[in-house]
Amino acid sequence: MAAIGGGSALIARNVTNLEPIRHGSDPLLSDYPRMTRIAHLSDLHLVEDDHHKRDTAGRLRLSYLSFGRQLDGGDRRRRLRAALAAYRRSGAEHLLITGDLTEDGNAAQFEVLAEELQGSGIGSDEITLIPGNHDAYTSPDAFQEALKGPLQAFAPTSGTGAVTVCDDAVIVPISTLMPQPVARSAGAVAAADLDRVASVARSYKESGRAVAVAQHHQPYGLGVPGLNWIDGLQNPDLAMGFLERHTEVHILHGHRHLKCDRQVAANERPRVFATTACVIDDAPLRLYEASEGRIWPLAPAGTGTPAAVAMPTLGLRAAHASAGVSWL
Ligand SMILES: [Fe+2]
Ligand SMILES: [Fe+2]
Repeated sequence: MAAIGGGSALIARNVTNLEPIRHGSDPLLSDYPRMTRIAHLSDLHLVEDDHHKRDTAGRLRLSYLSFGRQLDGGDRRRRLRAALAAYRRSGAEHLLITGDLTEDGNAAQFEVLAEELQGSGIGSDEITLIPGNHDAYTSPDAFQEALKGPLQAFAPTSGTGAVTVCDDAVIVPISTLMPQPVARSAGAVAAADLDRVASVARSYKESGRAVAVAQHHQPYGLGVPGLNWIDGLQNPDLAMGFLERHTEVHILHGHRHLKCDRQVAANERPRVFATTACVIDDAPLRLYEASEGRIWPLAPAGTGTPAAVAMPTLGLRAAHASAGVSWL
């Protein structure tokens, strides 16, 4: 695996024994058997251990954002710890954590995340972090600041412009953050980020690697305009048009707290994948195999449950909201 971004050095990792073997090699070149397993977590909604010491306004805000979920920092840590242990057993080469890492993005919550990740025994170059709407409620720059602080070890795989090259997949994290009050949970993609994804896809086209874009929000619009304004992607036309043109691109996202696979067009394999929320699900880890330029979802490790049910074709720009909404 090679992480490219923020001026970081190339780091390569053999998919079989997970030992670094190709430091400094050209990630475009690959001449050995290909099958990369990727793991996916999302929506940790971590809180600081002493959140009860916040002032009244702070406690009210946290309660509002955590509506419907038990506000138990220890339980959220334990859930993440269990999911990270599941990742270590899974044989996956890389872990994507697609946003809402924290409940409201304060510095102490990012420190909790850093503690748990660093205590997991998983190499920082195996993890890509993506911010979600909750991570920006304290400050729109909170995630980027955390990448300079407690999450610094993850900046090469998670910072702006990062690209991680595995044997059979190229991972591109993009942000869907936008300025908004806590009453909204919307997102948006930036045209510049899609241009970057297109450039990466062009660069690796001949290598046969699958292109996996990791982002927090779903790329499609929710069926109800008012609901989409509150909770959806604000420019689904841009995102869906991009996916229509770039059939080699896959999306792995969170935010909806649902596990589902979606097609972009009829008669096409699903290319948009979501996983459940670690904060509420006992088996939140999804696994995928990257092979022959595609991402193939597997059943979650150890559960024996089938892979997510494929949802109806998204159609253009107007997918139907398929489930109710909790605070996302
Ligand atoms: Fe979210
Ligand atoms: Fe969430």
